[in-house]
Amino acid sequence: MERKWWQEAVGYQIYPKTFKDSNNDGIGDIQGIISKLSYLKHLGVNLLWICPFYKSPMDDNGYDVSDYFEVNKIFGSLDDVKELIEKAHELEIKIILDLVMNQTSDEHSWFIESRKNLTNDKRDYYIWKKGKIDENGNLKEPNNWASFFGGSCWKYDETTNEFYMKIFSDKMPDLNWENEKMREEMKKMICWWLDNGADGFRVDAIAHLAKDQSFADSEMEKDGFGYCPDWQKFSNRDRLYDYLTELNQDVFSKYDCLTIGEVGGGASTADALRYSGFDVNRFSMVFTFDHCWENGAFGSLDKQDDEIKTNLVNLKRIFARWQNDLYGKCYNPLYWLNHDHPRVISQYGNVGRYHKESGKMLATTLHMMWGMPFIYNGEEIGMTNVDYDDINDFNDVSAKNAYNQFVGELGKEQVLRYLRRCSRDNARTPMQWSSEKYAGFSEVEPVVKVVGNYKWINVESNLKDEDSILNHYRKLIQLRRNSEYSDIIIDGSFTLIDEDNPNVFSYLRRYNGRSLLVVSNFFEKETKIGYGYKMLKVVLSNYHHNDYNLNDLTLRPYESIIFEIYE
Ligand code: GLC
Ligand code: CA
Repeated sequence: MERKWWQEAVGYQIYPKTFKDSNNDGIGDIQGIISKLSYLKHLGVNLLWICPFYKSPMDDNGYDVSDYFEVNKIFGSLDDVKELIEKAHELEIKIILDLVMNQTSDEHSWFIESRKNLTNDKRDYYIWKKGKIDENGNLKEPNNWASFFGGSCWKYDETTNEFYMKIFSDKMPDLNWENEKMREEMKKMICWWLDNGADGFRVDAIAHLAKDQSFADSEMEKDGFGYCPDWQKFSNRDRLYDYLTELNQDVFSKYDCLTIGEVGGGASTADALRYSGFDVNRFSMVFTFDHCWENGAFGSLDKQDDEIKTNLVNLKRIFARWQNDLYGKCYNPLYWLNHDHPRVISQYGNVGRYHKESGKMLATTLHMMWGMPFIYNGEEIGMTNVDYDDINDFNDVSAKNAYNQFVGELGKEQVLRYLRRCSRDNARTPMQWSSEKYAGFSEVEPVVKVVGNYKWINVESNLKDEDSILNHYRKLIQLRRNSEYSDIIIDGSFTLIDEDNPNVFSYLRRYNGRSLLVVSNFFEKETKIGYGYKMLKVVLSNYHHNDYNLNDLTLRPYESIIFEIYE
């Protein structure tokens, strides 16, 4: 297989607001990222995905862009971004930006124009509809579709007595991709960033650009807010692929750039091939969410913490499906979490006694698969979910919506427990750099509350400890990028073995007659496996003792080992 540059890369995602504060105003910024480039180089990653830093009222932490060509002052200036790109390039680190095209902020000049009157030339850049009158003579939304953030996907606007569509928050009106002039403006903007040195994009919420143009009511059962969560009406629709082909032809194909679409829940591997198969010329890759909630935590509002348990058999099948359906046809990004998910160690690992072991086990399991791994900032030191016990500590607009909706019915404690398990705030706390006050993130109190365990979970202590989670990540990156196993890891096939074992995740990677076997105990309980392969070597493990017999092997809590084997 001929490789593209990004097929050999290891990515790292940065959430700028809480990564590093350089000027002590409590908010992370671009200069803060620049100050940590040498740390990232040392970690071994060679591509950064930076979450949005554009001008924005920050209703959804920057995914509500009010000017694509300007940098939000809280993060710095355009010159800072150019400096970041330049300095990263000097270190042979590529930078991809977050491209947000499904919606803008309601403070974007297009929307300010659009909402003024029915005949404005920007009116049709967004999706406006008349409401309906119900049997009691009240004005109702144009249809019963739900928003991802709770409530209706429509918002009434007095000025013209119409509703605009918004599948996220009220302040995030959806763009009308049927409008050609709007598409042309988008393309110019994308070229401008590529001309300014960006190496590509993670393309936000891309599955939703095309909406069912009938805008007819859904028949689906209503959710807790009284609307139909019928995501099919605006996800992965046929028409979308036309827009993407056009974007590729007119923009992406003209640059040697990496594009990763966020397609999320609902997209199958067949959809992935349609988005990013090697021969379709749309995106380089797509992010799926299929593996993200296999502990049943999503929507588990009424559950207690001890009712949440990883269904490993399902998790393995999902990974195997994405590995095998895409192998050789469409490259696959590998990740455990991003800024929209809980911390993986809190979800699938152990934040207590086996913090280190489970953090390393999760890393090994993911990084040895086929595809391009992404580390989410803080994952490399095993950062955990929040310890907040006050709703005011949460920031995310969707967490606040859920709290207001359910607190009456379920009580404060239960909703907070749920948010500590599932909220997007879990991944958005200040990066834990050291044991100093405010975790070395800032010298002043950060705008987002630091998680209390920074005193022992931090970069500084991980750097000092040869046996840390961080150093384990370094070894995994090294194995992939620069070792005698690179070819197997980058190009080898994937085979899930021991598929029905509910405790152990085992798979083979094979390339040119050589094989690696990866085994990972996902739980605290010891468990036995026995495989008929001949062991050649232990490549990496998360325990010291390594006198292993593959035919009869007891795996310790969260034990994870990479073997080179002979079949
Ligand atoms: C994506 C982003 C998420 C954002 C949403 C709306 O899912 O990852 O953070 O809220 O799109 O742009
Ligand atoms: Ca700052």
